[in-house]
Amino acid sequence: MKIYSKAGLNDYSMSLTYDDISLVPVEISKAKSRSVADTSTEFLGLNLGLPILSSPMDTVTGIEMANALNELGCLGILNRFDSSVEKLLNNEAGSDGVKSVSIGLNTPDDIISKLLEKVSIICIDTANANNLEVLKKTEHIKNNFDAYVIVGNTANGKTLKQLVDAGADAVRVGIGGGSVCTTSVQTGIGIGQVSSLLDVYFAREEGKLNIKIIADGGIKNPGDVAKALALGADTVMLGRLLAGTREAPGEVIKYNDQLWKKYRGSASFGVKMKNEFIEGEETMVPYKGHVRNVINAISDGVRSAMSYMNKLTIEELRQTESFAVLSNSSYLERLPKK
Ligand code: IMP
Repeated sequence: MKIYSKAGLNDYSMSLTYDDISLVPVEISKAKSRSVADTSTEFLGLNLGLPILSSPMDTVTGIEMANALNELGCLGILNRFDSSVEKLLNNEAGSDGVKSVSIGLNTPDDIISKLLEKVSIICIDTANANNLEVLKKTEHIKNNFDAYVIVGNTANGKTLKQLVDAGADAVRVGIGGGSVCTTSVQTGIGIGQVSSLLDVYFAREEGKLNIKIIADGGIKNPGDVAKALALGADTVMLGRLLAGTREAPGEVIKYNDQLWKKYRGSASFGVKMKNEFIEGEETMVPYKGHVRNVINAISDGVRSAMSYMNKLTIEELRQTESFAVLSNSSYLERLPKK
């Protein structure tokens, strides 16, 4: 079997996603236990205990989620669809846990200015970062305010320099990979998350560009988080994994003797409430209880991966150069059997 470096994997003939690859431990680990692995990292002026961001979706990040994630050492990005931003502006956010918010292309300067009295990071929440309006908005915010700006999304690094020149501090990488995303089905756009991340990673390396990479969409389990970080992502953004927790906005619904919560795409009919172009679905996910359980499971999984790989800091994990490409049967063999 061939062991691929990042560059080798980036040259692979086909587009790859998380289930197509695995991490290959090739060193004797110095970790006495997974608890010695340090998952802390710096991200846009914040010290995170675990490089996890929540997606600014209306069924994922309201004020309760942002505050809970902050307490857990992660970062919640407030959605722009429900009343969360309004509550933040009206000082109804409770503690000072909210560190970042999303805005749309039409959010006016007076609102941005008020938001920046409360938070340091603004996420311009669009489906496609590679658009002149996004570049203009980024440039405008960077020229007129003191803020970190996250843009998104992109599926490759071809335009990365333009995003950096406009002033973007971080980019959400992933088109078509989100679990409620129908972009690829509707438009034919989108490649596998592993290939997207590597393309952006090498564009950053080759251009010596200063921008953080956020792996966004398609994360199904803690192992995928470990893979995204090993591929060089700075942080990992979650939608579905956090949806259905107690802190996610929305009611708990009892159906067929089970508890559920709603999870929907930002471009779904339920969010847009009009029949314009729909690129997202609406679904129910099992109720998961406290978000702490989800974050702890991710933290345990990532620290265990770090211990196997002998990468005891997140920066070391990002330097991983040993990956396998799995045959379909190898992939199936990895899954627990009933
Ligand atoms: P998940 O973690 O796989 O559920 O993916 C979450 C990501 O899907 C978000 O952070 C967005 O990048 C993306 N996303 C959210 N809503 C939509 C939508 O309606 N259409 C396409 N992509 C979406």
